[in-house]
Amino acid sequence: MNRRSLLQGLSFSMLAAKLSGASSLYGQATEPQPEPARRISANDRINIGIIGPGSRGQELVRQLLRTPGVEIAAQCDVYEPRFAEVNELVGKKVPAYQDYRELLQRKNLDAIYIATPPVFHASYAIAAMKSGRPVYCEKTLGFTPEDSQNVVDAVSRTGQIFQIGHQMRYASWIRDSIQRVHQGEIGEPTQVYSYYHRSDNWRREVPNPSLERLMNWRLYRDTSGGLFEELGSHQIDIANWVFKEQPQDVLGTTSIAVYHDGRTVGDNVQAVLGYSKGRRLFFSSITDNALAGNQIWVYGTDGSLQITGEDATFYRKKEKTITAASHSQVVQRGLKTGASYAPDSVMPYRGPGDPVPVRNREEPTLTACKSFVECVRNKQQPFANVDVGFGSAMPCSIGKRAFADGRAMKIPQLKRLS
Ligand SMILES: NC(=O)c1ccc[n+]([C@@H]2O[C@H](COP(=O)([O-])OP(=O)(O)OC[C@H]3O[C@@H](n4cnc5c(N)ncnc54)[C@H](O)[C@@H]3O)[C@@H](O)[C@H]2O)c1
Repeated sequence: MNRRSLLQGLSFSMLAAKLSGASSLYGQATEPQPEPARRISANDRINIGIIGPGSRGQELVRQLLRTPGVEIAAQCDVYEPRFAEVNELVGKKVPAYQDYRELLQRKNLDAIYIATPPVFHASYAIAAMKSGRPVYCEKTLGFTPEDSQNVVDAVSRTGQIFQIGHQMRYASWIRDSIQRVHQGEIGEPTQVYSYYHRSDNWRREVPNPSLERLMNWRLYRDTSGGLFEELGSHQIDIANWVFKEQPQDVLGTTSIAVYHDGRTVGDNVQAVLGYSKGRRLFFSSITDNALAGNQIWVYGTDGSLQITGEDATFYRKKEKTITAASHSQVVQRGLKTGASYAPDSVMPYRGPGDPVPVRNREEPTLTACKSFVECVRNKQQPFANVDVGFGSAMPCSIGKRAFADGRAMKIPQLKRLS
């Protein structure tokens, strides 16, 4: 059976199991043997192999082409038309493979980028690290709780450099504003409210119905954690960064309110994630109204911070927002106590706020790629390291189950190999 008939004849999840080598139905995949890592000097090109150059993968290729000292040296995708798209982007024919194991057999690769759907991330990342290569893997780290812990263990065992695709960690205005939160600028941050609201049904046109599961993997529960995983993982990561820990429990709900088109993931999600000391992240995502957009509010005891993909703004309480009502106000309004009456304003933060100076407007994905390449050269673990990936992936894996069961669930914490 060739790859094309595989795509036509197998369900996507069966294909996932076959290609990941994870299913006992198909036996274990033959993994490439580790080869000694090439010594990379400051002037050497870093040869990169990309697995899964679809929409996100091609964006990574675009940014890698702007990263000094990098060559796109190999590509792998189960969907053949991707190869010509990558060749066009790169401006030359890039050696192409339909099986990631063949790509990993190549001798001249210094690092691997993984941008397949998340069901493949863990097994491909582990195989790439075992083959002796640093890995940049798109979020989420793992699809199941076991996946995520397995990647953490593999990083420990192999000592490989691993970066997760949380590129917003590399946005200068987000870094600067979170540093200011950590310095106490809004007092104690106790709540994060995040919104990922869009007007977009998430469905892709497919050239042929047999490609539905391959192209619309996001819409089906066995290959996707839906909006919570695809969009929420970035915002969970920001909350983890603010609170300096991963969440402990998750409760939420999801439904199909608009797009009754056969999908099995919700088109809206609301979730609450609990951190220590009673701190919380509230996450909301809807797909039929983009008014609130993609924004994160960090609420502290002395002020607030709004973060978007473009900027960040601090808001501070006015000195005195609630004053006791005067006798004449109480007489006029019929209030018995001043405590329930705010004569100044019920919107005490209204105003322009204090924008965080943006010292670097570079596309965060480009900064993330440059930083990864530097880490490969200098043999350093990245800022968005495997622990960061675990901290956002695990709540997503557990969240899917919690929403389905309609109850709060504990989130396993990262374990280190002893
Ligand atoms: N960091 C970000 O901001 C960001 C943005 C978008 C997507 N993503 C992540 O990137 C990943 C890909 O998303 P996308 O929108 O590009 O999806 P996509 O469907 O456009 O691309 C995935 C590609 O992987 C290929 N593929 C599928 N199974 C494969 C396999 N077994 N082996 C090799 N190739 C395989 C597909 O043919 C496709 O070309 C997801 O994990 C997603 O969460 C991250």
